[in-house]
Amino acid sequence: GITRHYKFNIRLKNVTRLCNTKTILTVNGKFPGPRIIAREGDRVEVKVVNLVPNNVSLHWHGVRQLQSGWADGPAYITQCPIQTGQTYVYKFNITGQRGTLFWHAHISWLRATLYGPIIILPKRKVPYPFAKPYKEVPILLGEWFNADTEAIINQSLTTGAGPNVSDAYTLNGLPGPLYNICSPNETFNLKVKPGKTYLLRLINAALNDELFFRISNHSLTVVEADAIYVKPFQTETLLIAPGQTTNVLLKTNLNTPNSSFLMAARPYFTGRGTFDNSTVAGILQYDNGNPSPKTLPVPILPPINATSFVANFSSKFRSLANSQFPANVPQTVQKQFFFTVGLGTQPCPKNQTCQGPTNTTKFAATMNNVSFILPTTALLQSYFSRRPNGVFTTNFPTTPFIKFNYTGTPPNNTMVMNGTKAVVLNFNTTVEVVLQGTSILGAESHPLHLHGYNFFVVGQGSGNFDPNKDPAKYNLVDPVERNTVGVPSGGWVAIRFQADNPGVWFMHCHFEVHLSWGLKMVWVVLDGKLPNQKLPPPPSDLPTC
Ligand code: C2O
Repeated sequence: GITRHYKFNIRLKNVTRLCNTKTILTVNGKFPGPRIIAREGDRVEVKVVNLVPNNVSLHWHGVRQLQSGWADGPAYITQCPIQTGQTYVYKFNITGQRGTLFWHAHISWLRATLYGPIIILPKRKVPYPFAKPYKEVPILLGEWFNADTEAIINQSLTTGAGPNVSDAYTLNGLPGPLYNICSPNETFNLKVKPGKTYLLRLINAALNDELFFRISNHSLTVVEADAIYVKPFQTETLLIAPGQTTNVLLKTNLNTPNSSFLMAARPYFTGRGTFDNSTVAGILQYDNGNPSPKTLPVPILPPINATSFVANFSSKFRSLANSQFPANVPQTVQKQFFFTVGLGTQPCPKNQTCQGPTNTTKFAATMNNVSFILPTTALLQSYFSRRPNGVFTTNFPTTPFIKFNYTGTPPNNTMVMNGTKAVVLNFNTTVEVVLQGTSILGAESHPLHLHGYNFFVVGQGSGNFDPNKDPAKYNLVDPVERNTVGVPSGGWVAIRFQADNPGVWFMHCHFEVHLSWGLKMVWVVLDGKLPNQKLPPPPSDLPTC
């Protein structure tokens, strides 16, 4: 492979959306940000220069970062933030992955505008396991807020209330014609030719919503998820959770030249439907098709609570699991964990007014009843220098504090204890984690994302996980391999991975609001004995706190 150099200047820029102009953080003045392109086996070096008043940190979401944990990026986990005027060069190799991923800011809510595609092509002369597409098009799904997102999350954290929702969903940063827009340039327009195959690289970079996506009159073939090929399957509608990426083939019609169709996305929200249910639309325009979308029919998307569609759709993903792309699923596990995932409440601090579920409580979010508190220095640095004292503890519970029962009499499982707790794993441990959604306060599924690894999704179901019956139904042959999985509302998923990457790795809900409320934990994976099983020392330009 070769080394690909990028320079990312973080700078402010005025951007107009929904007839509203606002100053946002960008990379090189672009919104959405520039794409990173590399081949499998290449090395990537991104020099990030912070030219804004905020502290920043960037994360290369889904890149395995084998032995390069210092480049992973979540603020206060693997590094201190890059402060105003400072520079940090992220250096990492792309190994064993090909497809679509994305990069985004990983501090507070700055990823609202700081995000862009990562495109990993196969090695030179290695073909895709599907026919070569005529063109490839990244499509980033996102959210636009008229208000300042830092103010929104700070308000939520002080009052304990649910944060304001966004004003629009976007396709490549554009809200489209179903919103109140003031310029036709606010609509994403994909120009196509008849009878060709396009590879759409779909990325959900939205802050807080899983999104359905569909193109009128066209079906899509899913070929890849989270930069791993999957057994191809056809679908009209996709669901993509924040943090997930999905590559699909779009075959354009031969018999509809000079016509246009709408593509659209809107949220899947399993709860009681008070969230934003608006729709972003873009245009698929054949040659001289009508570029004005006023009369085009909007694709029919599942209702906001289409939970059975979601369960069925997620069960269609399967690894290729062939000799060229084997699925190395751990067949047995050395360490088993059971984590509840959900919301909880905390008492309102004295002398404060709160607007959580009641006016004496604040919303919090937990795994196993622990709401994770970010340290004020980077966890990886304190681990590496063997000074965990006062920064983190290694007693993250392996099962919830309060026994969980979803279908029986609901126990008071909304208890929250604060802490900076990690699980320590020996190098190469095989791990299984059952993630059980609690859905006691607000029924939502939680897109759980693991840094530094892909995992196999070996099982999923609704209701309580049953340790006596459910493991017998696991798929240990061709389960999908990914970095983000939706924990179903009131259901569970089981994941497996092998701890072959030393370092400190974040695992969290990829809904930004749940991340802010504490739905996160860390794995500390110890070095192995061999030289190539150790985390190297930190780079000299690693920011300090
Ligand atoms: Cu895409 Cu820790 O995040």
